[in-house]
Amino acid sequence: MSASSTDPLFQPLRVGALELPNRLVMAPLTRSRADQPGDVPTALNATYYAQRASAGLIVSEATQISPQGKGYAFTPGIHSDEQVAGWKLVTDAVHEAGGRIVLQLWHVGRISHPDLQPDGGLPVAPSALKPEGAQTYVSADSGMVDIPTPRALEADELPGIVEDYRHAAAQAKAAGFDGVEIHAANGYLIDQFLRSGSNRRTDAYGGSVENRLRLPLEVVDAVVSVWGADRVGVRISPTGTFNAMSDEDPFATFVAFAKALGDRKLAFLEVVEELFDQDGPAPEQARLSAELRQAFGGVYIANGGLTGDSARGRLEDATADAVSFGRAFLANPDLPARLAADAPLNEPDQATFYGGDDKGYTDYPTLETSSAS
Ligand code: PHB
Repeated sequence: MSASSTDPLFQPLRVGALELPNRLVMAPLTRSRADQPGDVPTALNATYYAQRASAGLIVSEATQISPQGKGYAFTPGIHSDEQVAGWKLVTDAVHEAGGRIVLQLWHVGRISHPDLQPDGGLPVAPSALKPEGAQTYVSADSGMVDIPTPRALEADELPGIVEDYRHAAAQAKAAGFDGVEIHAANGYLIDQFLRSGSNRRTDAYGGSVENRLRLPLEVVDAVVSVWGADRVGVRISPTGTFNAMSDEDPFATFVAFAKALGDRKLAFLEVVEELFDQDGPAPEQARLSAELRQAFGGVYIANGGLTGDSARGRLEDATADAVSFGRAFLANPDLPARLAADAPLNEPDQATFYGGDDKGYTDYPTLETSSAS
């Protein structure tokens, strides 16, 4: 069976300034294969992304905006000029293959470790609250380690963090990306400010919903000042519990955030409705998704737990405008062709998700290469 002209996955979509040929987005995926020292993207990374250029849009793996924003060994950055040159290999390769790619801007906040921090300092967070049970990967020798209690950021440090986001956004432009996604999900810095479980500040950046949104929106405005709103998206995970996250009222927090992003006419909102650590979506997720979609008013990208058919259903019943796939894109460079043909999918190999070389990275077969062998 071939892609019919009525298949909802293969209808074009305008996302801000971008024209997507289909509704299939490659979700951001940490792969931990940046060159050392310096966390610099390589030609191998360029091959990996270019193989996946038939996606309507690629969102890059989470990429640290500053040395302080790093939380795992071997993840790439965008703060140095060497990193910009490395990412240029990636954007050129994706564009040559006919694709579009935005960079995901990442500050991990408390999800880090002194071994990864400048001068061995403590990771920083809105409040000095330890993410109970959360771990990170600091080196091949130590493997996964527990995360210590972070240091609460002083109010006078926050403009510097906003400036780091602005600088990283400008670096992403220099690297030839088509836009950026601000990582506001999964328990990293922006999410730590948004949610009440991790933000106990008593100044203008904590407490009320309005105060918890303040730093995230300052970051959004700084990034929009570089790119324009029509090339900026945001990723959120309102019901996720990964990295010890919680919120006293996800509806109040995230509907207000979605509304503020909609008021700014951002290009898209990507919502993690279910993460890899979950067995299914939270019971209230569908209702929350509907409220978020309405409050935002722009392009809604659903992420998590989708199959080709459930994704089609979401587009058909208009509960999403596009859908993003992580692990399915990781294991299937030609995922759009496979979904169009109802072809079987390669299974992802967990052992090669993080770190290593081309194995489990650029060697997943396409339909063509597997039928040729
Ligand atoms: C991870 O590296 O485990 C990771 C990174 C970013 C996410 C989620 C998980 O959003």
